[in-house]
Order: sequence, then C-alpha cells, then structure tokens
Amino acid sequence: MATRKCAAVVVGAGPAGVAVMGNLLERQLGSIAWIDPSFTAGRVHGKYREVPSNTKVALFQSFATATQPFQKVIESSRTPNAFTTLAKLDQEKTCHLGYAADMIRSLTDGLMKMEQVHAYRGFVAAANLNDQSSEWTISIRQPNSPDLKISTTRLILCTGSHPTNVPIPVPGLSIQRLDLDLVLKPSELVKALPTTPTTVAIVGASHSAILAILNLITLTHTTHPSLRIKWLTRHPLRYAEYKEGWVLRDNTGLKGSAAEFARAELEDDKLATSPAGQVLTKIDCGGGKDAEAAQFAKYLPGCEYIIQAVGYTRDPLPQLLKGGEPLAMEFDHDSGAFLESGSTRVISGLFGAGIAFPERVVDPYGNVEYAVGFFKFMKFLKRVVPSWVKA
Ligand SMILES: Cc1cc2nc3c(=O)[nH]c(=O)nc-3n(C[C@H](O)[C@H](O)[C@H](O)COP(=O)(O)OP(=O)(O)OC[C@H]3O[C@@H](n4cnc5c(N)ncnc54)[C@H](O)[C@@H]3O)c2cc1C
Ligand SMILES: NC(=O)c1ccc[n+]([C@@H]2O[C@H](COP(=O)([O-])OP(=O)(O)OC[C@H]3O[C@@H](n4cnc5c(N)ncnc54)[C@H](OP(=O)(O)O)[C@@H]3O)[C@@H](O)[C@H]2O)c1
Repeated sequence: MATRKCAAVVVGAGPAGVAVMGNLLERQLGSIAWIDPSFTAGRVHGKYREVPSNTKVALFQSFATATQPFQKVIESSRTPNAFTTLAKLDQEKTCHLGYAADMIRSLTDGLMKMEQVHAYRGFVAAANLNDQSSEWTISIRQPNSPDLKISTTRLILCTGSHPTNVPIPVPGLSIQRLDLDLVLKPSELVKALPTTPTTVAIVGASHSAILAILNLITLTHTTHPSLRIKWLTRHPLRYAEYKEGWVLRDNTGLKGSAAEFARAELEDDKLATSPAGQVLTKIDCGGGKDAEAAQFAKYLPGCEYIIQAVGYTRDPLPQLLKGGEPLAMEFDHDSGAFLESGSTRVISGLFGAGIAFPERVVDPYGNVEYAVGFFKFMKFLKRVVPSWVKA
C-alpha cells in the first residue's frame, strides 16, 4: 500500500476540525489530509440542531470570517447561503444551533474543494510515531475504498466528545436510561416517552440539564400532561455574570434561554408557584457521595427513566503508538500539544483542539475553566497554531 505524504493530518470535521483547517491553510504548509466519517459539521449538525445556542449569533459570524480561507469560501458561495442567512439574524441574540451547523457545513464544503485539501470519508484507526524521523504514519479505514496510510509530521486530533454516563449507585434498580442527546432533540423526545403517567429523573444542573428539563416541561404543557420530573442536583444553579470586559463562569454558568428559564422557574423561591414547579420535584443531592447515593436510593425507585446530564467525555481516540508500542499521553491545555504521561517530554507533532481538547483559562478571580465554544476554539487556535507550525 503506497503511503501519501502530507504537511498535516486533521482528524475530525466538527467546528474544531474546521477551525484547525482554516488556520493551517492560511499558513500555506502544503497539502493537508482531512478525515471524517461524514464531513457534516460533527455533533452540532447530527445531534444539536434544535438546541438554542448559549452564544450570540455575532460569535458564529466572527468564527465564519476568522481566517482567510474561510473568507474565500464565503466569497465563492452562491447567495443566498448559510452565511447570508446568519448575517440576517439579530447579531446580539442567540439562535438555534441549526444555523451554526449550516455555516460549518458550508465552510466544510468549500474547504474540501481546495487544491491543498485531501479529504477522506473514513475513520482514523491508528497512528504510529517514528521517534527518529518524527514522522507519524496514520492508518485510515474507508467504508467504500481500500484502507489508506498517510505520513506527516503534524497530527491534529479534533475528535469530539459525547455525553457522560456514570454508574447509578442503587443496586438492583430497574430504570431505563434516556440518552441526553435524544432529550436535547425535542422532535425525537416527544416520540420516545409514553403518554401514560411516567416519571423521569434528571441528574445535573448545568446547561445540558436545564435544557433537558425545559424540553420535558414543554412536553407536560403539550403532548404529555401526565409526565412528572424528579430533578436531582448536587449544587445550586450557577449563572454566567457579565463583568467589565470579562465574564464570570463564562464556560460553566448558565446563559441564554437556559438561564432565563432557570431564573424564572427553577430557583427555590420560584418553584412553589412556577409552572415548572407544578410538575417537577427538586431533590437536593449535595453533601458528598454517600448523601447523594442515599437520595438516589430513596427517589429513583419511583422513576421509569433516568437522564444523566453530568458533562461530556472524549470520544475514543485512534490507537496511538510510538515505535509500535502504545503511547500514554496527557493533553497540555495551554499549548494544545501532548506530553508523555508522567513526564514533561512533548510528543512530537501531536496536537488537539475542540470540546475534547479545550484551552485552560483562568479568570481575574483565579477560577480555572476549560474554554468550550466555536469562537473559543478559534481564539485558542489563533494563539497556538503558529507554534504547531514551527514545531
Ligand atoms: C449540547 C451542546 C450545546 C452547545 N452549544 C454551543 C453554543 O451554543 N455555542 C458554542 O459556541 N458552542 C456550543 N457547544 C460547545 C461546542 O462548540 C460543541 O460541542 C462543538 O460541536 C464541538 O466541536 P468539536 O469539533 O470539538 O467536536 P464534534 O462536533 O463532536 O466533532 C468531532 C468530529 O470528529 C469525528 N471523529 C471522531 N473520531 C474520529 C476518528 N477516529 N476518525 C475520523 N473522524 C473522527 C466525529 O465523527 C465528528 O465528526 C455546545 C456543546 C454541546 C454539547
Ligand atoms: N447551547 C447550549 O445551551 C448548551 C447546552 C448544553 C451544553 N452546552 C455547552 O457544552 C459544554 C458542556 O456543558 P454541560 O452543561 O453539559 O456540562 P458541564 O458544563 O461539563 O457540567 C457538568 C455538570 O455535571 C455535574 N456533574 C458531574 N458529574 C456528576 C455526577 N456524577 N453527578 C451529578 N452531577 C455531576 C457537574 O457538577 P459539579 O460542578 O458539582 O462537578 C456540572 O454541573 C459547555 O461548554 C456548555 O456551554 C451548551
């Protein structure tokens, strides 16, 4: 099997993969291989089109014009298109993520046509680093074509994350899990739940949890009046706070419609009279692991379904090897590079971005957060890609 040589290999074509492509192409390194099973904007198109954004439309616009290759794509797109549609929305408001997904898909289509881009519809199964030559050999599986090998000195992982599932600490409990992705898609959720009296437990209090509650409450007002909700949370509601020139809890606080709904209906002093409070019971699970387990044991047996909205976990990575041996590594959230586990040795030519590999940020109060969002990925990449290219 012939091995093609490329200046870089980018794995994943979600918003992060697209942002990486824009930044690398801008630097004219030569040909870039880009691998994704579908090239349709990753999870934001596949799963989250119906989710209201928690960022302003203006930030999606800023993303779309942030690199010169993106601007080229926009200029050569026939109007009307996803960019003109985005431009017509109120820039200071939020929007459904479908608009952002269409923008990413249009950028993807345009980038894939560029001469320097070799796009492969497939899956990166493994990558092996030759320590002497600092070259990676990437193995790609393609469903409709023979497997392929590409060599490069730069491998960038933008492989995304999926909802976290944790064990339920109640032995012998019979309860059905409802996938968080499904709950965030009202058009599917409505079909997944019975209209007979049913109780759904939801664990968590972050953005995903509040949007999941909002979607369930909407069902109780429409097609599912007998639906009841038990909300198990281990911390109070936390909101983003807009300060002079920066945002407190910018990455972890509630924003947009989730924040509006939580403030109006889910705070302790609102629940007794709010519409949500009539169908939802809040269960305080704070106080540590044992206290939480006791609350789960007490309240979950009365529920038919459970939704866990407790964050996101990296998707499985390709098998990464050095000289044919498994490579244990840790992501450096400051540089976007990887270190060999338990050492300060940088792994040659391996980088990451996106929800799976976000930048670590520290706010003026010293709080540490991970920067997850379209424009946050772009900002991080603008800072670190020059050093990736030099390396
Ligand atoms: C519910 C939700 C709402 C969000 N809302 C917003 C918002 O309003 N505004 C905002 O700015 N951000 C938002 N985000 C955060 C973030 O922008 C999105 O999660 C974004 O989709 C992450 O993009 P990504 O490219 O890192 O990952 P993904 O979109 O998951 O893309 C990863 C891609 O890599 C591919 N891939 C994985 N492994 C391989 C492999 N081995 N070989 C080839 N391809 C592979 C996958 O198939 C996929 O196409 C939200 C996140 C969530 C979870
Ligand atoms: N457009 C939108 O409105 C939208 C919707 C969803 C997500 N997002 C984005 O996607 C990213 C992920 O957001 P997210 O809200 O899903 O998750 P997240 O911000 O990663 O927060 C995870 C939450 O789960 C809790 N948690 C973790 N483990 C738990 C456990 N075992 N039991 C109970 N609670 C547990 C955490 O509480 P502790 O703090 O106590 O650990 C935290 O509140 C963010 O960038 C967010 O902005 C956006």
